[in-house]
Amino acid sequence: MNCNFDMVKSSVMKAHKFSPESLMMSHGYKPELSQGAVKCPIFQTSTFEYKTAEEGKAFFEIAYGLRDKGPKEELGLIYSRINNPNLEILENRLCLWDKSDGCAVFESGMSAISTVLLEFLKPGELLVYSNPVYGGTDHFIQHFLAKIGVHTLGVHPDESTETIIDLINATGKADKLALIYLETPANPTNDIVDIESYKNIANHFSTEEKQVLLAVDNTYMGPLWQHPLQFGADLVLYSATKYIGGHSDLIAGAVLGSAELITRVKTLRTFLGNMLSPNTAWLLLRSLETLKVRMDQQTKNAQLVAAFLEQHPTIEKVNYLGLLKEGTKEHSIYKKQCEAPGAMISFDIIGGEKEAFQFMNSLKLFKMAVSLGSTESLVEHPITMTHAGVDPEHRERMNITDKLIRLSIGVENANDIIWDIEQALKSIEIPNHKLQMANI
Ligand SMILES: Cc1ncc(COP(=O)(O)O)c(C=O)c1O
Repeated sequence: MNCNFDMVKSSVMKAHKFSPESLMMSHGYKPELSQGAVKCPIFQTSTFEYKTAEEGKAFFEIAYGLRDKGPKEELGLIYSRINNPNLEILENRLCLWDKSDGCAVFESGMSAISTVLLEFLKPGELLVYSNPVYGGTDHFIQHFLAKIGVHTLGVHPDESTETIIDLINATGKADKLALIYLETPANPTNDIVDIESYKNIANHFSTEEKQVLLAVDNTYMGPLWQHPLQFGADLVLYSATKYIGGHSDLIAGAVLGSAELITRVKTLRTFLGNMLSPNTAWLLLRSLETLKVRMDQQTKNAQLVAAFLEQHPTIEKVNYLGLLKEGTKEHSIYKKQCEAPGAMISFDIIGGEKEAFQFMNSLKLFKMAVSLGSTESLVEHPITMTHAGVDPEHRERMNITDKLIRLSIGVENANDIIWDIEQALKSIEIPNHKLQMANI
């Protein structure tokens, strides 16, 4: 599906490769196949007509792997649970940001995550995962995977590579380690881990017969500000509901990786039937056209908001990648693997749930809602909302407490966002003893 104008060359010019943002309006779409329409239409069809019975037979032979593709043969369009132009064009465009060979899009981030976990883990095998992870992922790992007999080991950002190797060995299931799953930066605390060092752990436990795979949920950074495949990840996952969709009007997910791994993911997707709909894929194609400008503006705004929060006397601690201190381990991981600090901020307010709720109830511009990465600024209280289902003991260990508030910064005028936060902070009554204790 690659267009010939992705790479332009004339006799006087050197080959020029367009940036992903320049290709979001064109890559993978051929107007001549759609009556010259500049924009890709919605292929709202369940099934596709074959020119001949022989052609239909050939498509199914490829789809079911009954024979290898001929040198110039492509998998033809069969049925929208297997393939559809809107999904394929979207997948091709998403590949550009992460320089990936393959992509599979799903009807939600959770369906992308659960399909990967089901495809690459069998009962009796071991999954190692970083903490914290999004509440829904945590639930799937703790409850569903445990129910089907997959062993799980949660690790934490403050543990060294050696400690993690020891912990894996201590499970007695090291030879069954099949997958390492990371969420970095983590929702909601912005904790980051070094993808390369987890790749080393995966390699340490890999054998000739079995490669331990590394999957990274890149929702908080992607697809612009971090590219896990470049640091050794085998699979990258997204809730495309977030920055990729960017307008809080759809639910979607994506997985990227090598053609071989994505073929496995797509095969399971075909049989679970959890592929994206053509209509939502079309909306995402539209979203991708403004992805870079939206994300650039959001990160600019977030840096100003984080600086404001950091100096505010009613705030105890701000978790934001742009505020990491030079000389710390986290700062060097950030410098190595992230290209911008992003637009997600969380902070501890002085006090607890009462003060957090007073602040949230006083905001005027922010919308109080879960989700993130959209054009509008959002606020939520992880312990009682997105992470309400996480085991209280685990939450404590991950610093998800009553006083933690999460902000997703949008594209509004930064002065308006900061004004809103400032007026909401003024409205809360923090008892003097709490202020004094926090400032000691
Ligand atoms: C980091 C992260 N991963 C995955 C998901 C799940 O995505 P979805 O809601 O699109 O299923 C979320 C949702 O908030 C998330 O924050």
